[in-house]
Amino acid sequence: MKEKILQIENLSIAFSVGGEILPAVDSLSFSVSKGEILAIVGESGCGKTVSCLSFARLLPEPPTIYTSGSIIFPTGTSAGKNILSMSAREIRKIRGKKISYVFQEPSVSLNPVFRIYDQIAEVICLRDDEADDVREEVIYLLSKVGIPDPASKMKAYPHELSGGMQQRAMIAMALAGKPDLLVADEPTTALDVTIQAQILELIKNIRDESGMAVIIVTHNLGIVSEMADNVMVMYAGHLVEKGPASDIAKSPLHPYTKALISAVPQFGHEMEKLNTIPGTVPSPSKYPKGCRFYGRCSLADSLGHDEKRLCAENIPILHETKARFCRCHYSK
Ligand SMILES: Nc1ncnc2c1ncn2[C@@H]1O[C@H](COP(=O)(O)OP(=O)(O)OP(=O)(O)O)[C@@H](O)[C@H]1O
Ligand code: SF4
Ligand SMILES: [Mg+2]
Repeated sequence: MKEKILQIENLSIAFSVGGEILPAVDSLSFSVSKGEILAIVGESGCGKTVSCLSFARLLPEPPTIYTSGSIIFPTGTSAGKNILSMSAREIRKIRGKKISYVFQEPSVSLNPVFRIYDQIAEVICLRDDEADDVREEVIYLLSKVGIPDPASKMKAYPHELSGGMQQRAMIAMALAGKPDLLVADEPTTALDVTIQAQILELIKNIRDESGMAVIIVTHNLGIVSEMADNVMVMYAGHLVEKGPASDIAKSPLHPYTKALISAVPQFGHEMEKLNTIPGTVPSPSKYPKGCRFYGRCSLADSLGHDEKRLCAENIPILHETKARFCRCHYSK
């Protein structure tokens, strides 16, 4: 079995807003191993970004409150520590180096007033303050992410590059820290289909070469089936199903996963654009008492009165069956 790199145990994240505590992510437990690509899917507002940002403690505190749990990184070695109890200095050593991020918008990571070269070189020097051949390394990274003529492109400011090239430069910057874990939050949503495919292929190739782990958030179930080893489905701040991507595509267990897949005529299209699941995701201030999918769940609709009451009043626990995890009273 592969060595685990990140272990999340019973993690709950809330926001303190106007005197109210809003639970955005609840009782999240999962792990990622070296070389694994884990996809996180779920509709808008389900807690995908909040979860991802917590791994390197990037959420602003306040309003963020970690109400329970631990984020152990890296696991498997004696160096594993809880990110939630690290000092700011310890976290700075991890952020952008051991755990790197790629976002939908390159402008979140790329600074408009510095040339691409300076930004990537800075990450290299932070990783290794004795690095020589920084220039060669920047050129190597830019060519690796498919930027043509990297020696001249590295002199550009971000706005002088196209959206696809900016996204590649951001990936080069993320890779410059030689991360053990790359977190990519909808890295290709803003790009056209051809560039999307190239960038995903690139991330996969780098994973193959370096053995880094990848967590990728996506609305595109095609990406899940093409590149992910495992998939984690989130609904209203809960992990509702997790397992091997191929098993989940073939035989989803949770009614929400089934609804997501059947909302997409072929497993391979954007789910949001074709969203046909009736109803909406409840907001954290309106989470129901029992199962959060109750009210939209077709399985619950088919149940008798007493069975429905269990759904309405009791939060289902996450059951483990073989390599699958499912949070439902009736689908296990
Ligand atoms: N700073 C914040 N203060 C209060 N609530 C927040 C804050 N950030 C996120 N939330 C809430 O947390 C919940 C989860 O948000 P998150 O951004 O993780 O969703 P998501 O699954 O990434 O959605 P999308 O697919 O639209 O990116 C949402 O209800 C959101 O409104
Ligand atoms: S616990 Fe009930 S409402 Fe929730 S997913 Fe299962 S059947 Fe549906
Ligand atoms: Mg998001």
